[in-house]
Amino acid sequence: MPNGPQIILTLKVLVVVVTILLLASLVALALKRPRLHGHINTAFFVLTMATVVGFEALLQWVDVASAFDPAARAALHTHLYFSVPSALLLPAMIISGKMRLKRLHLALAVVFTVLWTGTVITGLGLPN
Ligand code: HEM
Repeated sequence: MPNGPQIILTLKVLVVVVTILLLASLVALALKRPRLHGHINTAFFVLTMATVVGFEALLQWVDVASAFDPAARAALHTHLYFSVPSALLLPAMIISGKMRLKRLHLALAVVFTVLWTGTVITGLGLPN
């Protein structure tokens, strides 16, 4: 069973990897390649969902109280307040993008950008 620091380090690496994908998808948009943006974000969606679900599942197995000190537990909670709503928004992002509901997609993108920025800041700031 992985220990607390191993779990947090893995989480940080995954957050960085998927954020690079998200940034690449925005570069694709800037290059007027919306289909590529969609393909990259489909990968972003799958990886992010797998990370959040896998992480939540892992927390059920790991003895959270002994793996993380109170400061780490509080920081993890704050992180989950951003990452879980981000993940919940992702299906709506995929659907609104695929259905070309551009106004809805862009409105959701604003909320998503705020939540994702919070996810990255609180994720990379976790003590490990
Ligand atoms: C965060 C900022 C984002 C911005 C500014 C943005 C913007 C856009 C824009 C302008 C389009 C083209 C819409 C059209 O021409 O009707 C688009 C398409 C799309 N977006 Fe996003 N998007 C963002 C994030 C995401 C995310 C997070 C996802 C999925 C997880 C996503 C999935 C898609 C998909 C699937 C398409 C359709 C691509 C296609 O034409 O096949 N987008 N997006």
